[in-house]
Amino acid sequence: MKVIVLGGGDSPEREVSLRSARAVCQALRKKKNEVFFLDPLAGSFFKKLLQVKPDCVFIALHGGMGEGGVIQGLLESLGFPYTGSGVLASAVCLNKLVAKKILAYHGLPTPAFVPVNNGWLPEKMALSLPVVVKPASLGSTIGISIVKSKHRLSQAVKKALIYDREVFLEQYISGVEIAASILGNNPPVCLPVIEIKTAGGFYDYQSKYTPGGSLHTIPPGISKESLQKVTSLATRTFQTLGCRDLARIDMIVDSQGNPWILDINTIPGFTQTSLYPDAARAAGIEFEELCQKLVLWAKERKQPGKSHGRQK
Ligand SMILES: Nc1ncnc2c1ncn2[C@@H]1O[C@H](COP(=O)(O)OP(=O)(O)O)[C@@H](O)[C@H]1O
Ligand SMILES: [Mg+2]
Repeated sequence: MKVIVLGGGDSPEREVSLRSARAVCQALRKKKNEVFFLDPLAGSFFKKLLQVKPDCVFIALHGGMGEGGVIQGLLESLGFPYTGSGVLASAVCLNKLVAKKILAYHGLPTPAFVPVNNGWLPEKMALSLPVVVKPASLGSTIGISIVKSKHRLSQAVKKALIYDREVFLEQYISGVEIAASILGNNPPVCLPVIEIKTAGGFYDYQSKYTPGGSLHTIPPGISKESLQKVTSLATRTFQTLGCRDLARIDMIVDSQGNPWILDINTIPGFTQTSLYPDAARAAGIEFEELCQKLVLWAKERKQPGKSHGRQK
């Protein structure tokens, strides 16, 4: 099959995306596909896209236009099949504030939050310290601060505002950090859940991308009952937000064993050592097979009468 792998892009997660794309290219070549790497920032992007006429586009872009529905919309209008979620779910999940409002509407647990309006914090807050300050649409922990004392709050908000016009405060939840990876559509399946251990308890950019910066543990150190809650919550989240093919849902399990949804990644890190491929491997799905599966699902969607998920 002729596959274009998209990597790079304009978001602050560009470097990570280039690593994901490199790994995906290698994997798909091993599976005997004819693979073309393409960076949406390249001047010849549109020309090349139309020239190659791919059977499928594998989107290995993280954050920004690539994960947030813009590239998906472009491919949709050109009629090229692509991996992963469609336009709406991609856009919803990229914006944590929008995703949290939908989760809250459906009664799915996500930590309490307060939007920051035009840089101004509300006089009275329904949150207690510590709080987490987040840009709404960034990933890889960029612009996020954990604030333990009130006088550090405005500094943290200023920092988040560098990255995004939309910023919010979120209740800090102390507990076990979990990554729940969902694969497939009818029905979506929760792959083995991973516990993430970091030296400082904050899964920041450094611990995410420095070798040895974090430890992935399967199974996680939570009770069976709690693990059951995590897997069913992850699957419900995936379905509620209309995701497709794959997503990694980041959660914290509190001291009572209850999971809280932090973040839904529709295009999770895809290097050989990233969380999502690790979870797939633990389910007996090797990286090459995982990449090929996603390509085949995308290709199949284009055939008349065949569709996966809620969006076409
Ligand atoms: N409410 C919270 N309570 C405790 N830790 C949090 C909270 N929100 C975020 N964190 C920490 O910050 C990291 C990044 O936050 P997350 O919401 O997953 O954003 P990103 O899109 O950058 O991954 C988490 O993996 C976790 O370590
Ligand atoms: Mg996250």
